[in-house]
Amino acid sequence: MTMTMDFSNQTVVVIGGTSGINRGIAELFAEQGARVAVASRSQDKVDDTVAKLESLGAQAMGFSADVRQPEAIANGLASVHKAFGDFDVLVSGAAGNFPATAKGMSTNAFKTVIEIDLLGTFHVMKGAYPFLKKPGSSIINISAPQAFLAMQAQSHVCAAKAGVDMITRTLALEWGPEGIRVNSVVPGPIDGTEGMARLAPSEEMRQSAVNSVPLQRMGWPVDVANVCAFLASPLASYVNGVILPVDGGWATAGAGSMAMGMEAFARHS
Ligand code: HXC
Ligand code: NAP
Repeated sequence: MTMTMDFSNQTVVVIGGTSGINRGIAELFAEQGARVAVASRSQDKVDDTVAKLESLGAQAMGFSADVRQPEAIANGLASVHKAFGDFDVLVSGAAGNFPATAKGMSTNAFKTVIEIDLLGTFHVMKGAYPFLKKPGSSIINISAPQAFLAMQAQSHVCAAKAGVDMITRTLALEWGPEGIRVNSVVPGPIDGTEGMARLAPSEEMRQSAVNSVPLQRMGWPVDVANVCAFLASPLASYVNGVILPVDGGWATAGAGSMAMGMEAFARHS
């Protein structure tokens, strides 16, 4: 089920919007009338996503850039602004993850995830700032339960996503006075995604993840997208600085079973 909202004549930018959850978010905004821009490293994935968004009836564009490269991100965002005007909604969701224990991970492995998830979020928000509608825009950072739940083999992601949520809360204070709302959405285990393929690679792990969700199912990208549409809409015009789980209640307790099981999937324990 999707909510019907009207985002016509609005510009929505989804960084990391070319697969999985973030692509689901881009598609929902396209279905609801927005002009949508996406970006990620792979030009092929960008082209494929833009074609899909256009097939949904949206004006769409994209650019390839790595969130670790602030200039490339800023230039890409400037090109979107030139074509589509001020941004109403910015979704920042690029991320990297692999199961690795602290002992089995190099400094570069840890740093890679910090650079993509945490520094990347900063680069995206800072690069977009000049182009955000002021007042009246909404930023949504895509976080993860690891931001507040410790999990084996996830020290890099836990540290990075905790940082993402603190950027959210801090910039909600800094940019709120200009009429920019900044919130985080925290997906639970979402079916069919790269994230779950990496963290629950066996059918047994997948079923155990399902069983650990109080609602007894994994989420779908559209579950997350619906909440992003709500946060971006006037219905949420007084919501700022919030970290909002969309996880069927998973983080309340159920995630614990996954938290202790992941070391088995690391290359070295
Ligand atoms: C240990 C690993 C590793 C692994 C990579 N490295 N994979 N170390 N175990 N499984 C190390 C490498 O050896 C290298 O260190 C360093 O990490 C960088 O690796 P590169 O391959 O050079 O990095 P790069 O090409 O930049 O790719 C980044 C990446 C990659 C994160 C490693 O997997 C990627 O692009 N991921 C994007 C897609 C993704 O991860 N999606 C899932 C998001 S889900 P050395 O020392 O050898 O140089 C998510 C949360 C899910 O975020 C939550 C579910 C509940
Ligand atoms: P995904 O399909 O791998 O999506 C990641 C997206 O980010 C892709 O479009 C990828 O495209 C892009 N990307 C990755 N690294 C990038 C970089 N350095 N620069 C620019 N773009 C980059 O993953 P997903 O599982 O759907 O996860 C999406 C988001 O949800 C992430 O923020 C993740 O942390 C969060 N999340 C996921 C789950 C889950 O169950 N899957 C749970 C909680 C939170 P390219 O490869 O072309 O760069």
